[in-house]
Amino acid sequence: MINYLEMSKAQLTEEKETLTKAYETFKHLNLKLDMSRGKPSPEQLDLSMDLLDNKEYIGETGIDARNYGVLEGMPEARRFFAELLGVKSDEVIVGGNASLQLMYYLIELGYRNGYPDSEKPWKENAKNKFLCPVPGYDRHFRITEYFGFEMITVPMTPSGPDMDIIENLVEKDDTIKGIWCVPMYSNPDGYTYSDETVRRFANLKPAARDFKIFWDNAYCVHHLTDTPDTLLNILQECRAAGTMDMVFEFCSTSKITFSGAGVAAMASSKNNIDYILRNMFPMTISFDKINQLRHVKYFKNAKGVAEHMKKHSALLKPKFDKVLEVLNEEVASCGDIAHWTNPKGGYFISLYAMEGTAKRIVAMCRDAGVVLTGAGAAYPYGKDPQDSNIRIAPSYPPISELETATRLLSVCLRLATVEKLLEA
Ligand SMILES: Cc1ncc(COP(=O)(O)O)c(C=O)c1O
Repeated sequence: MINYLEMSKAQLTEEKETLTKAYETFKHLNLKLDMSRGKPSPEQLDLSMDLLDNKEYIGETGIDARNYGVLEGMPEARRFFAELLGVKSDEVIVGGNASLQLMYYLIELGYRNGYPDSEKPWKENAKNKFLCPVPGYDRHFRITEYFGFEMITVPMTPSGPDMDIIENLVEKDDTIKGIWCVPMYSNPDGYTYSDETVRRFANLKPAARDFKIFWDNAYCVHHLTDTPDTLLNILQECRAAGTMDMVFEFCSTSKITFSGAGVAAMASSKNNIDYILRNMFPMTISFDKINQLRHVKYFKNAKGVAEHMKKHSALLKPKFDKVLEVLNEEVASCGDIAHWTNPKGGYFISLYAMEGTAKRIVAMCRDAGVVLTGAGAAYPYGKDPQDSNIRIAPSYPPISELETATRLLSVCLRLATVEKLLEA
């Protein structure tokens, strides 16, 4: 154990020299590795290739999936996603290939037209605010940034975002129109909201009558262990509390089948679903029903999905383990200079380096040929006030490359830490 926090300046200077040499050695390897985005690996995509063999196009109620119409989705696809999300079929819209597109559409709808419970469209308000648990998913923040919301950060904890802060804010401020949530295996920490957190969300009493919870359950079946986290069903809690209009839940098969050609769905109150469908009507005549049908034929039900996800887990788990093993070996031995999450599912490990070093670490990795998600990307406007968080996405690179990349990352982290300590 060499505890950096107990080292003298002379020892730190010596350590800096050793690390600089190690870093230069990595640079000479001319690496070209990418740990930046949570993309499935080609082997994961290969798991679903049989899906494409399915040529059936007549649905169980006689609908010809090749043709126009049935905007709400094939009935069997609505039933399939209703089972996954634990709601009724008529509380589901099955969309195109991306849940992000549905989220964007719903923010845009609130902005342009408002919701049944809105006094006026959001665009007519002098100010609109949105709550953003941090760190969070950069693409969520990009949507609300695009529509000019002021984004208010709320700290994440292992049981979900800080609910005291959220209740306090939304109950007082009617300019707060919504919140982004990734309730299971959150991006990037991998935390799952506790039952209490979910219940407190379902029972929120926002000052804005048209406050909406964007419940992005992107990782609802993406377990990495045999003892998965469990998540309380928010829409059922809301049904009991009479607050179903407040929640939009999303999921997709992007990380079950194909990221670029999966099927996305959303669920909410019947009231909201009817309103959304009426407003989607001018936009499109139907989403890709052939793909919807293919997916249902392939998986049949939630049990079929769970079986398939075990194959993903078999490919992903060793990658997560490798990153954690290297970090434990290379960084944990240097004292309390960084910490990281150990998720039971999802796509990311969240690394917290010493304050003020994340940008430097990511830049050093980049200069040595390893691309990481930009430091700060998990915060609104791309700004991590602590400059500490780095999102690690282990899914894409082969395991040998992942090991090299994590070893380089560890050297960069240690070097940036030593530099920081020497500045003090
Ligand atoms: C939390 C979260 N939501 C949504 C998505 C994208 O989903 P989709 O492909 O369905 O748009 C991702 C992708 O990384 C994600 O991490």
